[in-house]
Amino acid sequence: MSANLVAVAYIGATILFILSLGGLSNPETSRRGNVYGIVGMTIAVLATVLGPRVTPAAYPWIVGALVAGGAVGLYAARKVAACLVGFASYVDTSIAYTGAEKTIHEIEIYLGIAIGAVTFSGSVIAFGKLSGKIGGKPLLLPARHWLNFAGLLVVIWFGAKFLQAHDVQAGMLPLIVMTAIALAFGVHMVMAIGGADMPVVVSMLNSYSGWAAAATGFMLSNDLLIVTGALVGSSGAILSYIMCRAMNRKFLAVIAGGFGTGGGAPAVAGGELAGEVTSISAVETAEMLRSAENVIIVPGYGMAVAQAQHTVFEITKLLREKGVNVRFGIHPVAGRMPGHMNVLLAEAKVPYDIVLEMDEINEDFPDTDVSMVIGANDIVNPSAQDDPSSPIAGMPVLEVWKAKTSIVMKRSMASGYAGVDNPLFYKDNNRMLFGDAKEMLGEVLTALKG
Ligand code: TAP
Repeated sequence: MSANLVAVAYIGATILFILSLGGLSNPETSRRGNVYGIVGMTIAVLATVLGPRVTPAAYPWIVGALVAGGAVGLYAARKVAACLVGFASYVDTSIAYTGAEKTIHEIEIYLGIAIGAVTFSGSVIAFGKLSGKIGGKPLLLPARHWLNFAGLLVVIWFGAKFLQAHDVQAGMLPLIVMTAIALAFGVHMVMAIGGADMPVVVSMLNSYSGWAAAATGFMLSNDLLIVTGALVGSSGAILSYIMCRAMNRKFLAVIAGGFGTGGGAPAVAGGELAGEVTSISAVETAEMLRSAENVIIVPGYGMAVAQAQHTVFEITKLLREKGVNVRFGIHPVAGRMPGHMNVLLAEAKVPYDIVLEMDEINEDFPDTDVSMVIGANDIVNPSAQDDPSSPIAGMPVLEVWKAKTSIVMKRSMASGYAGVDNPLFYKDNNRMLFGDAKEMLGEVLTALKG
């Protein structure tokens, strides 16, 4: 395959990647988007392997590397790869750069390794926090911003040493010291971030891995890697920004760390909020839903944990057959990852046209008979609007309390991810349906059928 043909294939793959991202922005077109992505990546890999820079003698190595890389796991490998490619590119003497080109190439190497190392160690810690192996509480070292600043100065100083180095041996020491500092910085940065902010961090690290790949693309003069890296980098950055806005958190405040708890801590009874809550049974819930004209269901993290989406769908189907107008209200950060609720509801075959975004449905609550909250908490907390001192003050929420009756289904009075109490539970028009979402909804479904 000639270099020209490879360039054409790369342009084709680039267009497919952009179409893929466009397709993924909407549930109806997301399957097509996925197919574009797969075809684009297949073209990119084939064009690279069959291109002029790879000789047939290397094929067994490539197949071996594909199998080994796949086994190690693409996720971790991508971050380590950015780092290792940087080192490999530095010791590679097959292309000799001189003058300004040499300096630019070395800056690319230095930055590529730095971003790759931060991303890698940060991702390992994020994995530990999300899987519960490391506690969710932020670790706040004294003078932590100064520590980071000192690290940055050392990295810049060694960067200058690296650029002044006359040969590979002399350049290796600054490179290794910088890598060690970048790895430590990744650990320190993510350890300082509380559990509630972790999804933002994951998306941000994903963005970094894109920028690391783009830097690698510059090192290897590979246009496709530059473009795909920039696509991953910018889409991750936009997603982090959207999440921050939906939680009313400042992006820089998330990075600076310190917010959030271990997650799910029970709300302490006896605070100012403690009052009377009115509970309701599954049979009474079914009765209320059956006699309603308009129902809005608000799913949250608890529905995902209980895997209750299929029962939710059965109930929705039954109510719609009885002429009840059932719709879903989705908060942008409901659950733990972006799009969490939409994916679950789509999987359970809930029709897209009754699944509405928070902004589309919020003003309809006053005309709603029953709003039913399933395993959600923070995203329906009125103190975000009423209490300026609340940790979630200013976060946009679904105004479920404006319906004639709201029913909250959860197992206990425990708080949600942000660890704050929820005055919704104590409102006169609110009912609590205590129990596991899947079990309770099963009982509601049985009662509806009966
Ligand atoms: P949460 O506020 O975390 O509340 C979920 C509730 O589900 C809990 O209070 C829990 O109460 C209940 N629950 C857990 N397991 C259950 C089960 N098996 N059956 C029934 N209920 C169950 O969730 P949310 O309202 O979806 O809000 C999302 C939170 O995550 C927000 O604080 C948001 O800022 C944060 N967050 C989300 C994202 C994204 S992108 N989605 C990103 C960053 C942060 P019980 O223990 O009493 O059952």
